[in-house]
Order: sequence, then C-alpha cells, then structure tokens
Amino acid sequence: MYTMNPAVFILLIICAITIDAAFDANNPMRKTWWAKRIANDFYTAGRISARQIKYAQEDGFKSIISVINFTEPLTNGLEEFPTSTDCQEIAKNAGIRYEVVVPPSGNWKQDLEFVRLFTILADSLPKPLLVHCGVSYAATFSLLNYFANKYRNDSTFTPKVDGKTFFEIASMHGMNYNEPEFKQTVSLVTGEDISGNVAVPDIPMGQWWWPTWQIKPVYKNMFVAGQIHFTSLAGLNSTGFKSLINHRRGVTLSPNDPTPSQEEASLLNIRDQTGTYAEGGRQNITRLLATRIDPSRPNTYISNTSLVNYEARNQLEFGDDVGYNETMERQAVEAAGLKYYHHPTG
Ligand SMILES: *[C@@H]1O[C@H](CO)[C@@H](O)[C@H](O)[C@H]1NC(C)=O
Ligand SMILES: *[C@@H]1O[C@H](CO)[C@@H](O)[C@H](O)[C@H]1NC(C)=O
Ligand SMILES: *[C@@H]1O[C@H](CO)[C@@H](O)[C@H](O)[C@H]1NC(C)=O
Ligand SMILES: *[C@@H]1O[C@H](CO)[C@@H](O)[C@H](O)[C@H]1NC(C)=O
Ligand SMILES: *[C@@H]1O[C@H](CO)[C@@H](O)[C@H](O)[C@H]1NC(C)=O
Ligand SMILES: *[C@@H]1O[C@H](CO)[C@@H](O)[C@H](O)[C@H]1NC(C)=O
Repeated sequence: MYTMNPAVFILLIICAITIDAAFDANNPMRKTWWAKRIANDFYTAGRISARQIKYAQEDGFKSIISVINFTEPLTNGLEEFPTSTDCQEIAKNAGIRYEVVVPPSGNWKQDLEFVRLFTILADSLPKPLLVHCGVSYAATFSLLNYFANKYRNDSTFTPKVDGKTFFEIASMHGMNYNEPEFKQTVSLVTGEDISGNVAVPDIPMGQWWWPTWQIKPVYKNMFVAGQIHFTSLAGLNSTGFKSLINHRRGVTLSPNDPTPSQEEASLLNIRDQTGTYAEGGRQNITRLLATRIDPSRPNTYISNTSLVNYEARNQLEFGDDVGYNETMERQAVEAAGLKYYHHPTG
C-alpha cells in the first residue's frame, strides 16, 4: 500500500495540441496526444496498441522503434497490444516503419553496444520518430542516450544533451534515472563525471503513475491528457488517481441550454476537425466517405471483418452515433471509482 496526496488527473484535449504541435502547425496531433515530445521529431511512448500504430501513421509519424521485443500479445477490452512481430506487420500495412532494437546484453540500463545500435538505427529512419517500450522508461533513456551520443560526437547537434540536461529533460517527463547504474552509463556516453546530484522529477506519487504512461506530468500530482480510452480508467484508479476534470464539451451546451454540442470522436482513416454537425453529421456515411484520409486503404486496415475502409464509431473514446459523448465518459469514470468534474471549455 502507498499513501499519497490526492492525485488530480486532468483530462484536457486542447493541452495535447499546445504542448505537442511540433512537426506541423496544421497537425494538432489529436490522435497521438499521448506521444511525449522529447525534441522536435523525437517522441516516446509506452506499449502501444494496434490502433495507436495506425494513429501514429495518420498523425504524420514516419517511424517507430521498439526497444523491447514483445513476444506475448495483450488484450485490454477492445484494445489489442500485439507482439512486436505483429506490430511490424500492422505498421507495414499502415505505411509506417516499425523496427525493434534490443540491448545485446539484455540490460538496457547499462549497455553501450545498445546505445551504438540504437544510434545507427535512429539515424537511418525517417522522422518524426516514436520510440516505445512498456511504460516509456526504457524508451526515454534510450532516446536521451542517442542525443547525448550524437552531441558528444558533434557539438552542433541538437538537441544538445549533456550530463546535466539529460536528467533535466528526463525529469520534465516524469522520469527518474537517479541511480548509479544509469549515471554510470550517462557518464560513459557523455564523457562527463556524473556521480553527484542530478535533476529528479517533483512528483509526490513517485513512479506509481507509470502504468498509465499516456498522461503527462505538469505539477506535483497533477497530470494532463488528451482523450483517454475507457480501457485506461481502471488503471488510473488502481494507480491512485482520485479525480478527473473533463474539459471537453457535453452533449448539450449546458444543463439549461439544449443546443447540441458534441465534439468529434477520433475515427480511423477519417480526418479530424471536419465538424460534428456539418452537412448531415460527421458520422453520416456520405460524409465519412468524403472525409477519409486515404480512400484507397483496404477494409482490413480497420479490422479483418470490416466491410468498409474507415471507422464510423469509436466506443473506446466514448463515441456514440454523433460524436464524443461526455455522458458516457462521466458514467465510465464514476464506475471506475474516480471523482468526476466537468468544466467544458471552448
Ligand atoms: C523478437 O522475437 C521474435 C519471436 O521470438 C523473434 O523471431 C525476433 O527475431 C525477435 N526480434 C529481435 C529484434 O530480437
Ligand atoms: C560523428 O561526426 C562526424 C562528423 O562530425 C560524422 O561524420 C559521423 O557520422 C558522426 N558519427 C556518429 C556516430 O554520429
Ligand atoms: C447524410 O448527409 C447528406 C448530406 O450531406 C444528407 O443528404 C443525408 O440525408 C444524410 N443522411 C443521414 C442518414 O442523415
Ligand atoms: C486477421 O487475419 C490475419 C491473416 O489471416 C491473421 O494473421 C490475423 O491474426 C487476423 N487478426 C485478427 C485480429 O483476427
Ligand atoms: C449519450 O450517452 C448517453 C449514455 O449512454 C445516452 O443516454 C445518450 O442518448 C447519448 N447521446 C446523447 C446525445 O445524449
Ligand atoms: C478504485 O480504487 C480504490 C482505491 O484503491 C479502491 O478501493 C476501489 O475499489 C477502486 N474502485 C474500483 C471500481 O475498482
């Protein structure tokens, strides 16, 4: 058991846009808000689902590196987390590179050969690049070592990651590498003596939030997120989160104003921001066909049994027949044991 201050978990779709509007101002990364931008063109994540691989491609990522070779598939409700080998196949069909690089020694914390292999691979892949592992701990360490390795070799390389900034950047993303085995590796990669104090995250709940790696630390026990999946709610509760503030709009403007105000739900192979109610409704078949990202995709892009090459509803993200349904999220959040507050903006 662990004790902690009440953790406030803030659900905020627009924050994902502000923080990570990185590789293209026209691309607010609505589908990949969970990717952590460590530097321009370089992002990290934990274990990603089949859907998230497709989301990454649709949002403009060109490559994914996994630093773990997952050999067991996982299922969480409607979400599939395939093996690395299957991820590679899914990525190929979606049109994005997916490569696996693992430490030859089996120990990602202390393996300079791994840093070398990662550097060769990361250099060779098209960007933007997403590096993932299980909870983004190994992925962030690997990526920062890559930057440090590049910077040591070439002082004009950016981001400039030396022994000090390594731990500062890690801390901003809630990652704590303040252990001798990490510091030794960073010392060897940067060529600096790193035995004293290094930056550590100021998060009272410590590392307990890592299983819900999608969220982003902001201040103490407060985090922000884009549209989380309903399958994440049980994990948030068991991780220790107490409260969730939802900034997305409700199904009507307010309890006193019945004007319909549903936001959009993300849909595979459908462009974002096409307007929930425009022209007969965003999820009307005519409009779905007209707003596909790639009309030539095979139906198997959606699933083995899909009869169309686009998604029309997204239950995972509280989508109903019209769009995002805040009532559905409220019910699911409360059922998961969290306090729910609704503060619609925009
Ligand atoms: C990952 O595991 C699979 C299945 O065991 C194996 O075929 C593949 O070669 C492994 N990949 C790497 C990069 O180790
Ligand atoms: C090191 O830098 C030189 C040029 O400054 C470059 O040719 C070489 O590829 C770099 N090596 C690595 C591993 O980045
Ligand atoms: C779908 O939208 C079109 C106009 O874009 C409209 O003619 C049609 O009636 C709509 N269908 C449904 C089922 O609402
Ligand atoms: C879909 O079909 C392919 C090829 O037949 C198969 O390898 C894969 O396991 C199937 N996926 C699912 C989720 O049923
Ligand atoms: C939203 O979800 C609730 C709960 O499932 C449902 O009763 C309602 O009909 C849905 N749509 C709207 C517009 O409220
Ligand atoms: C949520 O977490 C609390 C504290 O760990 C636990 O007592 C409660 O049973 C959980 N609720 C659900 C619905 O799992």
